[in-house]
Amino acid sequence: MRGYAWGTAWRRSWAGVAACAAMVAVLMVGCSTPGPREVPQLGLEAFPPVANDKAPGASQQAWETAKAMGRGVNFGNMFDAPDEGLWGIKAEPEFIDAVVAAGFRTVRLPVRWSNHCGNAPPFTLEPAFADRVEQVVDALLARGLYVVMDMHHDRPFEGAKPDPGERAADPQRVDERFLRLWVQVAERFKGKSDKLLFEVYNEPHGRLHAERWNDLLARAMGVIRASNPDRVVVISGAAWGGVWALHQLRVPNDPHLLVSFHHYEPMDFTHQGADWHPEYAVGVTCCDAGQAKKVAQAFEVAKAWSDKRRYPLFLGEFGSHDKAEMASRETYTRLMREHAERHGMPWAVWEFGSSFGVYDRQAKAYHQGLMKALMPTWGQSESLTAKSP
Ligand code: GLC
Repeated sequence: MRGYAWGTAWRRSWAGVAACAAMVAVLMVGCSTPGPREVPQLGLEAFPPVANDKAPGASQQAWETAKAMGRGVNFGNMFDAPDEGLWGIKAEPEFIDAVVAAGFRTVRLPVRWSNHCGNAPPFTLEPAFADRVEQVVDALLARGLYVVMDMHHDRPFEGAKPDPGERAADPQRVDERFLRLWVQVAERFKGKSDKLLFEVYNEPHGRLHAERWNDLLARAMGVIRASNPDRVVVISGAAWGGVWALHQLRVPNDPHLLVSFHHYEPMDFTHQGADWHPEYAVGVTCCDAGQAKKVAQAFEVAKAWSDKRRYPLFLGEFGSHDKAEMASRETYTRLMREHAERHGMPWAVWEFGSSFGVYDRQAKAYHQGLMKALMPTWGQSESLTAKSP
């Protein structure tokens, strides 16, 4: 079971984006006095923000990394669950074999570090959990994969109620905790291959409105750069890391960055039947002209931003729930992949083996149609782990 405590109905929908933008504007105007969710934060003085007034554009290293990452998949619902296994899936060695056999070049690995640390500063990471994540990162890197390890689902940090199985946190220390977690994670992983990328935070939203997020992102970059001066880091904007708030993102003055966006339009198709989005009923197909236009528009906005700001993009998440009919999922998946690749963007489909999954864990095989949509040559050579249709 999945739990979104705050604002599920707003999530990524067009109306929601517009309403959120209006809310942000109200917050920015009246921001001298904290609003109801604006709890004053302690412990930030140790983490000064890097400048974000003159982002230089991306380094050659960042552009080359983006190019090499190519096609990827999210190991979702594994370490982003409150505990590994709580959402029904663990990171198994056979999944890594399947990813390699399919020809994916990148795995995005979401991690809920915040549920595995002490309750008070310095928020020490639980060694057993950190060791377990490191073991999986090492196993992925050993197979030559790019790994985008992101910090995911710290509900108190987002201003939401904890998920079932997630611990409560001191609301005055959630920002400090976020930064101190990065101190530890960056230090632990600093010696790894440069195929390991850090992603600062998944889909900032809720109390992480654009203004606060820009500040925290700049502080987190300072933390990460202290131990990892050249590692490529993935950043994204507020409002769920979607394209419509990209213009509000203040890019830190740093060249080794990729900019991620998530794209789940049309939401009523991709999220039909998802228990964390009860407002989307099943039965919606994809993709008619109106839907295809919505899909295309977000790519245009993202590409225009990237051309102007000279940073490469990474489509970090897109995908559809298994309650949608398979033929539509295949059409949608192909459309998304073609847009991303036409614009030269690496991508990672959401996700490997849960409800949005491309892999059927019971059958120990990929869904053929989805893989054909993702990999144009699927079935010709790399289908060792695939079952026949
Ligand atoms: C976001 C969430 C993830 C969810 C997915 C699809 O990435 O972090 O947990 O499953 O979107 O809604």
